Amino acid sequence: MQKLFFHSLFLCFLSVTLLLTKAQDAPNNSAIEALSRIKGLDLEANPALKRAVLKVLATTRGTPQFVEIVRDFNLTDQGNDLLDCAIKNSTNSTGPEAMRLLASQGQTNLVTTALQGTNAGPLITVLGNTAERQFVPWLTPFVADSTRELSLRKAALIALTRTPDGTQYLIELARNDRLSADLRFIAMAELNNVRWPALKTLAAKILPLPQSNNSQPLPPLSELLQKTGDPTRGAQIFHRPEVGCGNCHQIHDKGTDFGPKLSEIGTKLGKDALYQSILDPGAGISFGYEAWQIELNSGDESFGIIVSETADSIAIKTQAGIVTHYKKTDIRTRQKMTASIMPTGLQLTMSPGELVDLIEYLTTLKKKS
Ligand code: HEC
Repeated sequence: MQKLFFHSLFLCFLSVTLLLTKAQDAPNNSAIEALSRIKGLDLEANPALKRAVLKVLATTRGTPQFVEIVRDFNLTDQGNDLLDCAIKNSTNSTGPEAMRLLASQGQTNLVTTALQGTNAGPLITVLGNTAERQFVPWLTPFVADSTRELSLRKAALIALTRTPDGTQYLIELARNDRLSADLRFIAMAELNNVRWPALKTLAAKILPLPQSNNSQPLPPLSELLQKTGDPTRGAQIFHRPEVGCGNCHQIHDKGTDFGPKLSEIGTKLGKDALYQSILDPGAGISFGYEAWQIELNSGDESFGIIVSETADSIAIKTQAGIVTHYKKTDIRTRQKMTASIMPTGLQLTMSPGELVDLIEYLTTLKKKS
């Protein structure tokens, strides 16, 4: 039995080294696949194998496979390339994975140094997209320091709203009147969009949204349905930060890929159903878009749509459109929510006329025949 095991291990090893020595400059899928079969082997005990693995690794720089290989073989000398990978992938799912790996390897000073340099912007974004509270202390200095560039301070503020700890920090800053004037508007818009009810209520008290947009009461639905709006204005309203549709929906590839794509929504839903989807989002939750709340053993949490599940892991897509894989053993609890992830009350971020324009725009989004 044991003999057989070593025999097959040897064959596997042989095929891997053969494949690996053929590794070209471009990523070679069969070489990467071969590597996944020997993950965890001690490379230090086998210099030839290590050379071969590094050769494949070099062809995968900046890709999800790069992060996987570094993790699977516990390579601790790839910090600079991991950092680079995090910077280049700040808005997709690979960046946060690279950042978590850097942190778990203790290579945090690479990141803190880079945060002072020209790549601070994407790094701040990727720290936010991990949605982990361990990174909050790296982000807070940007918001509080008014000598930093405004775009970086805004990015740090948005990144902080990805965790309850970061949100709490921002609320305290505003409460103590230490939030500078140039960040007030974006803080209002972002804090009004957080999903933790207690923090959202607190934020609304301390930084209330300007009331001018919703001072007119909304006419009854029957009346709204009679009106015709301006679709061009509607398109602008859709992407306005205070309204936030584009933070969760894509139209023709613009916006975040999180909720259903709306490029053909005018074919799927009539005007009345479109109104309903905004005025009463919980009424009919689209299949596959149910919300899940996950508590991790680490104390962090995650909230979003389950996009895949295996026997020992689940993948969750969060509101930023970032997919994170969690080991089931790292999960303390998971709970399916009854409400839609789409917030209620979005009509309050616009005037009734603007709502009519927005709906008019959505009705024009038709399937091409
Ligand atoms: C926080 C994320 C989020 C925001 C912000 C958001 N939505 Fe949604 N929306 C969703 C999710 C998730 C669904 C699917 C679940 C459901 O049907 O409730 C959805 C469903 C919809 C649907 C129905 C789609 C279908 O295929 O049936 C429409 C239409 C829609 N949203 C329009 C909007 C508009 C317009 C805005 C801005 C006023 C907006 N959404 C803001 C997350 C969001």
